[in-house]
Amino acid sequence: MIAEKGWFELPIPVGVVSSGASESRASVILYDGMEKVVKNESLVIIRNRNGGDVLAVCRGGKGLNENVKTSSFSPGVAYAKTGKVPSSVKEFYIFNLEIIGAVGADGIQQNKFIIAPTSIVEMFTHEDDPMKYLGKSDLKIGHYWAEPRWKVPVLKQYINYHIGIFGVTGSGKSYLARYEVIPLLRRAGYSIIVMDWKGSDYAPYFDNTIPLDSIKVDNSTVIRYFNHLTKNFGYLGREDNPVSAAVERALRTTEWRGKPPQEARELIYMQAKSILQQQASTGSKGREMSLFWQNRLDAAFELITEEEVERFLGTIEPWQILTQAKDKGLVVVDMSKGEKEQKLAVFYSIARYLKRLMERKQRLDVALVIDEGPQYAPWQPRGLERDTTDLIIELCALGRSYGLSIVILSQGMAGEIGLNAAVRRNLNTQFIGRIHPLDFEEAQKLAASYYISPETLLTLPEGHFYFLGRMNPSPTPLLISFQIDKQARE
Ligand SMILES: Nc1ncnc2c1ncn2[C@@H]1O[C@H](COP(=O)(O)OP(=O)(O)O)[C@@H](O)[C@H]1O
Ligand SMILES: [Mg+2]
Repeated sequence: MIAEKGWFELPIPVGVVSSGASESRASVILYDGMEKVVKNESLVIIRNRNGGDVLAVCRGGKGLNENVKTSSFSPGVAYAKTGKVPSSVKEFYIFNLEIIGAVGADGIQQNKFIIAPTSIVEMFTHEDDPMKYLGKSDLKIGHYWAEPRWKVPVLKQYINYHIGIFGVTGSGKSYLARYEVIPLLRRAGYSIIVMDWKGSDYAPYFDNTIPLDSIKVDNSTVIRYFNHLTKNFGYLGREDNPVSAAVERALRTTEWRGKPPQEARELIYMQAKSILQQQASTGSKGREMSLFWQNRLDAAFELITEEEVERFLGTIEPWQILTQAKDKGLVVVDMSKGEKEQKLAVFYSIARYLKRLMERKQRLDVALVIDEGPQYAPWQPRGLERDTTDLIIELCALGRSYGLSIVILSQGMAGEIGLNAAVRRNLNTQFIGRIHPLDFEEAQKLAASYYISPETLLTLPEGHFYFLGRMNPSPTPLLISFQIDKQARE
């Protein structure tokens, strides 16, 4: 039919705008048979009789038939009850049209004219490329779900307003990051540091990886970890803590890194002990105090075992990680071998280094990709998580001025399985895949704003994401997907 009419370049007419349209809302009554062509999330163009063309997405369709209304008894209902099929002459189909904007010379603009009822609505075919209306950006991500050739443009200037990728386990977050977001960031000129929590999502696929235990963690982070491990060496949080202070000084004043674990541990212990001995004032009271401190030190070192010390014997410094990322374009920190607290300690160390650089007004052009985000910044952070959460928030604020883009992946949006709310507020671009039922409430908020039904979000296929926020040239979310290159996967 399209070829007959010579409409290769044109979208096909699918219906007309119904009564009650405004400049920002409309719905379409489909021509007969078009209900088998137009789908949820189909892209259409409204030829507004009041002027201009308006790009829109079909969402939340409905089939209507007066004859079979179920609010009261009617002849149609009576007919159906007898097992016969009532007439379908009064049947028609409508779709809500979520307005993207008016098509202008340089991309999309806010639509200001009221959309005239009975304006013709046309649907794009595979021959078209509606993405061209979204602007001329040469930076693209994935493709519009319906057609692999429709690459979705993104706004580069908002990359360092940070990115969140949400979806249940198995929804395709890590794949999206690996196949689309990371290559996009590379094309935009960012060097990339990936924190691979499980060591299985990125490390096997990139050449340049650094194992967790080869990274040097700064002394203040080591002491933070030891404090956590030993419950503050037996002191209450805010108390003056001479034992912790002595261990910290011991870490700073001995050459323990690069030594075998047993030797390193012994060095730290002996040094801390001697510091505590020297610190004690003279007299029996002083000796008593010193003995008390040394007891606490001994008790703590039952927990600070060789294995614990071994975690921190690495010598690669954060600046070397950054240099590697800059030289090779990308580096993956493989965190598979390590306890949670150690992972957080390493992350803290790297992140703090980046923060210091930015405080010295250095521009970074770096993206920090954080998979399994709630491990670092959960809903209610505790212990070291509190520090990493605060640090991420600070990085976000500084990053906007100094070219650091934070990319966080999380299986939940809000609540218990979700990302810390203060962190999430900083992620101005979001990719939302299939969500967890616990996030139903979040989904309802999206539904209220954009007609995307919560049911749709709960059942999205893997590798499908709604793209919304600053980097999206369209004010309404677009459903995107991406193709995985089988060879690159192997
Ligand atoms: N675009 C895609 N096309 C086809 N399959 C995909 C796509 N994205 C992801 N998948 C499949 O989904 C699975 C889970 O993806 P993954 O990124 O590991 O999920 P998550 O990180 O959300 O747990 C992958 O193993 C892959 O088989
Ligand atoms: Mg994953």
